[in-house]
Amino acid sequence: MENKIKNDLLIRAAFSQPTERPPVWIMRQAGRFMKEYWEIKNKYSFLEMCKTPEIAADVTMLPIDLLGVDAAILFSDILVTAEAMGGELSFEQGVGPRFANPIRSEKDVDNLRVDCLEDLQYVADAIKVIQQRLDGSVPLIGFAGAPFTILSYLVEGGSSRDFKRTKTLLNNQPELAHRVLSKISEVTTAYLNMQIAAGVNAIQLFDSWALALSWSDYQEFSHRYNKDIISKLNRQDIPIISFAKGGSVFAPLMAETNPDVISIDWNADLLKIKQSLPKGIAVQGNLDPIVMYADKPVIKRKILELFERMRDEPGFIFNLGHGIMPDMPFDHVKYAVETIREYRY
Ligand code: CP3
Repeated sequence: MENKIKNDLLIRAAFSQPTERPPVWIMRQAGRFMKEYWEIKNKYSFLEMCKTPEIAADVTMLPIDLLGVDAAILFSDILVTAEAMGGELSFEQGVGPRFANPIRSEKDVDNLRVDCLEDLQYVADAIKVIQQRLDGSVPLIGFAGAPFTILSYLVEGGSSRDFKRTKTLLNNQPELAHRVLSKISEVTTAYLNMQIAAGVNAIQLFDSWALALSWSDYQEFSHRYNKDIISKLNRQDIPIISFAKGGSVFAPLMAETNPDVISIDWNADLLKIKQSLPKGIAVQGNLDPIVMYADKPVIKRKILELFERMRDEPGFIFNLGHGIMPDMPFDHVKYAVETIREYRY
């Protein structure tokens, strides 16, 4: 598969092979910081955009055409698996995701569906349209949310600051939590294998809220499910990227799940993390996203400092430590990508 992609920098870096420069893609690269996104968003709801393959493909292509990044990421959301399992999902402007029927009882857990891959067929359809549009130019990254992160949304009914309900469930009813996590894992494994069968070239598993957990809770309620999912993927020549906010803390455990790449947030010294990992695991990251608000010379300096630090280490993918914010200046993000594309080791 990778031989057919013209720009395979991301695939090579993910497999810790040498590259002329670090590849760049950015979490939430197709989103509200682009006026072209709004031109589409003003006509459809977010879920309509995700569920209509032609529209999902249009949005996926925006950062390829307008920013020149080295990978496309499927336009979708981590919460579509939870919706297929029975969560009544909506996205409200300024509020973020909401589940109208959060998990509050054993019966709610019984009701969660696992046989729901058909309801996610639109994602496979979108992947096929996107691959036609990309026509082998850059790799396409597929993704899913990790079970703990998905559980947190299903239990809280939306985003949360302190994960009070989620953690109280883990503390008071661990067996019930494990039943939910097992169900989500089963769906996630099948869903990611469906994406691979449909033609994605890389996979990222988002455990966005892992940082809420203590080390031992992370092991019990997150890590073992991520490990189980990754072990069951039909990887072939498809690199697996494992992302956790808190990745710098949990990196030694994440490495045990056998990913090809670990994505690290901005607190850590990326080189030190890389050197602490088993050989052959690449790293992705880790510029503080807020740097994108800074003046252009500062953006350039921060990028070059990171690159100089990572210079002698094959297996490095540039990304921000977390996603682009809606009010980030487009021309700053574009400038960052241009700076990276001009760089040579
Ligand atoms: O460009 C890309 O990165 C691909 C598309 C993508 C989206 N969400 C689109 C989106 C991806 C990879 C995601 C993943 C996702 N979704 C995560 C993991 C990444 C992370 O940020 O840690 C999480 C936690 C979610 C859940 C989610 N979806 C939230 C919290 C929100 C609201 C965000 C906010 O700031 O309001 C969403 C909505 C969402 N997902 C939008 C987009 C473009 C905004 C929708 C809109 O236009 O209103």
